[in-house]
Amino acid sequence: SSEQFASLARDHIRAIEDWPEPGVTFRDITPLLADPAGLAGTVDALAGIAATWGPIDKVVGIEARGFVLAPPVAMRLGAGFVPVRKAGKLPAAVESRTYDLEYGSATVEIHRDAIVTGERVLVLDDVLATGGTLSAARDLVTGLGGRVVGQLVLVELAPLGGRARLGTQTPTAALVTY
Ligand code: PRP
Repeated sequence: SSEQFASLARDHIRAIEDWPEPGVTFRDITPLLADPAGLAGTVDALAGIAATWGPIDKVVGIEARGFVLAPPVAMRLGAGFVPVRKAGKLPAAVESRTYDLEYGSATVEIHRDAIVTGERVLVLDDVLATGGTLSAARDLVTGLGGRVVGQLVLVELAPLGGRARLGTQTPTAALVTY
């Protein structure tokens, strides 16, 4: 059941204090993914939620940890996988989006031909924090004519307000919320 999975996930997501900097508690999903039942349960739970959002043509995964989750979820959904990468990594023509971080800014990119107009797209990442990354990825997809069916993450850090930043135009879901 989803409750059983949520409890297994909580048991296997490790809190690392003061990483990557003092005062931050990092939620480390690697023990969950290293556990066979944790990995299978994560992929099943993500694909199960996405399936309630209707047919999906492409799953966009965000560098770096989104790359781990998006391909197996895409395979479950019968969809393709599309990477959104940090600036300068993709070899063909790209669309870029720059967004603000607490200090400075970040740029993410997608191949222009990775999404065909009208395709139904799921945007997937490991963590929703401030929502800047998912919001930028969603803008990249819609800019290419894709229709975002929802944003899906393994972990939501609720106090950082990402859900509000993403708004309610498309659904947002998380398997585990802190
Ligand atoms: C983390 C995380 C998300 C993003 C969420 O990635 O994996 O992609 O931050 O934060 P936001 O909601 O505030 O935008 P990070 O920038 O650490 O990159 P990495 O996955 O390449 O380590």
